Amino acid sequence: MSNRQVIRHFIDIHSLDRSALRRIIDSAHEMKKAGKRVPAALCPPGIADSVLGLIFEKPSTRTRISFDVAMRQLGGQCITLNNTDLQLGRGESIADTARVLSRYIDIVMIRANVQTTVDELAHFATIPVINGLTEKSHPCQIMADVMTFEERFGPITGHTVAWVGDGNNVAASWMHAAVKFGFKLRVATPPTLAPADDVIAWVKAEGGHVEIMDDPIAAVKGADCVVTDTWVSMGQTDAAKRKKLLRPYAVDAGLMRHASKSAIFMHCLPAYRGHEVSADVIDGPQSVVFDEAENRLHVQKAILAWCLGAN
Ligand code: CP
Ligand code: NVA
Repeated sequence: MSNRQVIRHFIDIHSLDRSALRRIIDSAHEMKKAGKRVPAALCPPGIADSVLGLIFEKPSTRTRISFDVAMRQLGGQCITLNNTDLQLGRGESIADTARVLSRYIDIVMIRANVQTTVDELAHFATIPVINGLTEKSHPCQIMADVMTFEERFGPITGHTVAWVGDGNNVAASWMHAAVKFGFKLRVATPPTLAPADDVIAWVKAEGGHVEIMDDPIAAVKGADCVVTDTWVSMGQTDAAKRKKLLRPYAVDAGLMRHASKSAIFMHCLPAYRGHEVSADVIDGPQSVVFDEAENRLHVQKAILAWCLGAN
């Protein structure tokens, strides 16, 4: 087997095997229990000499800070770079950037405008690459969300989650997770904002329990968890059109009443109160949005440890 084949990239939930994903979530629960000082047993070998590079082509609060703090708490170092800090922003190729980064640092996380940048970086790098969001997916977020769900309800397998709103990058990663972790997912979107065809086709081919619909009430009925996200993702320019289409998909107290009595509300943040979610829901007792944000830190420690060779 070539060295390339054994590099542990964390690119997308759909391309990782179930046992690795399960191990990462279990390790994240342990990381959270351990607090700031991560026990040696959870750390990858040589972490004290490791440097993580963080590259951002789009803005970030949670991903930027939680990855930086995660690497420090594991005992390693971190360098954060915006696109314009790199020659990448002036047209240096992704392939050359990948080869150069691989000579200096030990692991890289990138938030990219397009998925092909992450894929190409992983193809040419000889260090692990982590996807910190693209226009197609947001796998680290959904790992934190699965962890958050499990803190409330135990193993997510067999439970029902409802996605209401835009069929966007975050929805796609929820669809990937439904297949890999074995839970039911109902996705309600306006027909023109339905999830991408390739994601729907993949779920179908895998035999996942994912239903795509346009009725938010039907999606939420009896669900253990209701999830939404911003109606206008980074880089999208058709805000007015989207807001009009998505208005019937706002999550408010009336919609939450159709979910299970013990249902939780999730949102990856940043949130726009009065648009995709009402203030009484996101700031109310069913909301776990700040647990999700905190769990980005714990799950990312587990992702970094896994990528760098922890068991
Ligand atoms: N949820 C999330 O990824 O937040 P940031 O855009 O702030 O990183
Ligand atoms: N769907 C959002 C998620 C932000 C974390 C976006 O891509 O902007």
